[in-house]
Amino acid sequence: MARPIEIVPSVLPADFSRLGEEVAALEAAGVDRIQWDVMDGVFVPNLTVGPDVIRSCRPHADVPFEAHLMVVEPERLMHLYVEAGCQVLIVHAESTRHLHRTLAQVADLGARAAVALNPSTPVASVRHVLDLVEMVLVMTVNPGFGGQAYLAAMEPKVDELRSIISSEGLDVDIEVDGGIAPPTVAGAARAGANVLVAGSALYRDPEGLGHAVADLRSRAEAAAA
Ligand code: DX5
Repeated sequence: MARPIEIVPSVLPADFSRLGEEVAALEAAGVDRIQWDVMDGVFVPNLTVGPDVIRSCRPHADVPFEAHLMVVEPERLMHLYVEAGCQVLIVHAESTRHLHRTLAQVADLGARAAVALNPSTPVASVRHVLDLVEMVLVMTVNPGFGGQAYLAAMEPKVDELRSIISSEGLDVDIEVDGGIAPPTVAGAARAGANVLVAGSALYRDPEGLGHAVADLRSRAEAAAA
């Protein structure tokens, strides 16, 4: 049975001088949860938000927050993002020496665990931690910046992952992130992704966030049907 389509905005393109209002507007637009792109300037060549920024925005929306941890040694910081109000923590397979232990620690913190794969990282690298996660994020751009071109070459990787998850009867979502927009969302959904992260595409829709979210959702649902 097809897994429900979820639309998850990245806050990256939002107006950081009005983040509380921006988060409330995303919730009003009908998103399923909100993704915070956490970057440390080491794992990726960019620097973004810390837990205090997320904590300040937490009261402005009821939808779950997920922290996409594009940081080295996430095990040192994870608890801060849970305490700031994130329900989902996404750990990059490339970011920690002991991925199995780190993902188990996410559950110990009371959060939902997810693992992310950069474009060059094979599905095999997460084969033995699928039982520890509720979601696998397949990056469809090289992480660090919004507004990049979608890597359609990642679709076979999504398909491979979906086959493994289905054959083992696992209850695991597949999320894609990067370049998700009206022209690309159907390909990602057809390949097997059911959680779609979008940033730029939502904010550049002339008809507004609500239209952008609904349009992506309907395109993905039609493709996955
Ligand atoms: C990359 C970021 C972006 C962002 C969404 O590190 O994770 O993928 O969330 O970017 P766009 O603007 O491509 O939707």
